[in-house]
Amino acid sequence: MTKLTRRALVAAVPLIAAATAAPARGASTARGTFTHSVASGDPTSGAVILWTRFVPASPGAATIGWEVAEDETFRRIVARGEATSSLFDDYCVKVDARGLAPGRSYAFRFSSASGFSPTGLTRTAPAGDARSLTMAVFSCSNYGFGHFPAYGHAAKNADIDLCVHTGDYIYEYGIGGYPPLADTAPGRVIDPATEIVSLSDYHRRYACYRLDPDLQELHRVKPFVAIWDDHELANDAWRDGAQNHQPDTEGAWVVRRAMAAKAYADWLPIRRQADLLHIYRTLDWGTLASVILLDTRLIGREKQLDWRTALAPAMDQGEAAVAAAAQNYMRDEISAPSRTLLGQAQEDWMRAQLRRSKARGATWQVLGQQLVMGKQSMPADMPALLPDTVSEGSRRWATTGAGLGRLGLSWNLDSWGGYEAARQRFLQACATDANNAIVLSGDSHNGWANNLPGGRDGRPAAVEMAGLSVSSGGMERAFSKGEPGARERAMLAANRELAWCDATHRGYSTVKLTRAAAEVDWIAFENVATRDAPVASITKSRAEATRAHGVGSWQIG
Ligand SMILES: [Fe+2]
Repeated sequence: MTKLTRRALVAAVPLIAAATAAPARGASTARGTFTHSVASGDPTSGAVILWTRFVPASPGAATIGWEVAEDETFRRIVARGEATSSLFDDYCVKVDARGLAPGRSYAFRFSSASGFSPTGLTRTAPAGDARSLTMAVFSCSNYGFGHFPAYGHAAKNADIDLCVHTGDYIYEYGIGGYPPLADTAPGRVIDPATEIVSLSDYHRRYACYRLDPDLQELHRVKPFVAIWDDHELANDAWRDGAQNHQPDTEGAWVVRRAMAAKAYADWLPIRRQADLLHIYRTLDWGTLASVILLDTRLIGREKQLDWRTALAPAMDQGEAAVAAAAQNYMRDEISAPSRTLLGQAQEDWMRAQLRRSKARGATWQVLGQQLVMGKQSMPADMPALLPDTVSEGSRRWATTGAGLGRLGLSWNLDSWGGYEAARQRFLQACATDANNAIVLSGDSHNGWANNLPGGRDGRPAAVEMAGLSVSSGGMERAFSKGEPGARERAMLAANRELAWCDATHRGYSTVKLTRAAAEVDWIAFENVATRDAPVASITKSRAEATRAHGVGSWQIG
């Protein structure tokens, strides 16, 4: 074990809940420390994943006990067993606790000869009729940018059944990478200090993030479902590489990818699949909803395209030549039917999952994935919101983006905007194979409510809730001039699919699904400078569910 890891463990001690009671009879004889509390996730109607991290006092693997009870008194134990903590899994312990009853809450804990872990709270999915499902949706939680008031706020909300993290749960950069030093919040020092590349690096980064008291508490009291985006691996990752991966100095991508996936499987309370690179999966919430979780980042994604490649040869030939080059690129490359974001196998699987969900009469098909799906064009007046001090390169980038926007083209080719045929296939699948489709997205750091076109009778094929980031800076960092609301007004005016946006705040959303509607609370915080930053605003949006006509458009307010 390294020096830094020992330091991390010492730092964890005040956060470890009192392990006062003696361990249960028959429990393990292993002595050691529960270093990062407990977590749970991937609930089904009869099982849930339980997680803890137990570092034995003496070297070698250790056996610890676990138990699930009807409530926190642990008088009625409904499931128990033993599990192994070992260095191979970074001492993370995961149990698939089975034989539970559908649609109810449980308490759970782990035990060792040194005492109990903190008590966790979790719940199972309902099996049949379910009146509602309330999800808290998170994305882009960067430790260096500040605290995580969104996690702390959600942990206190008794209505939340399930937390969904759509990725960028950690970031891979070293200190001063992202955020740059000038934007790093006091005291938010990441470990390790350098970019994470090896398995030990990835493990240590999770260990660092999971000492955050608000993230730790949220994991203790709510089940999570999580999928990775790029930063759990490296920036702008795709199947065979990443923008922030240099094979010459950082080794083979297949190795780094495998290490990142292993650390993710160890630290996230999600159900392990045989292939750790395979994270797409479905969780059913009775007959109310199917939560279909996708991987747009790694398993099938073709390499991102780059506007610079397309536009550079035309740049000194005038505006008409640039416009023609952009339109040709859109037609020939971005919209190429063979171009894929999910990969054929996952695309087929998604379609089959939608059909299965529709056939069993589920009201909602929830598509949890990483990237903004609504079309996003840069408004013509956006460059005017750049500060005077901005670099010439950034100004040129924004001006080019606004020029693309005038042609109705997206500047961001890392999102669905760079995979137009795949986006159309996705929306077609929602229109024909879903009852009421809602897409949950992250990645962009700002909040977007989109009506995704292509449904029946002018209705959306799906509505999209693309979440506010937990802490990562968004559009306001670049376009910082202008009156409050200027960015939002410009984006709304330039984008037809957009029903509402927040391009200013950090936060999260709650999404309540019933037979009648999806109701979203967009919870925005004034800042992330403190753990208990005040709520700046809560915006409500609502989309009606129908029996046979598909989801209705977002109604705001
Ligand atoms: Fe992010």
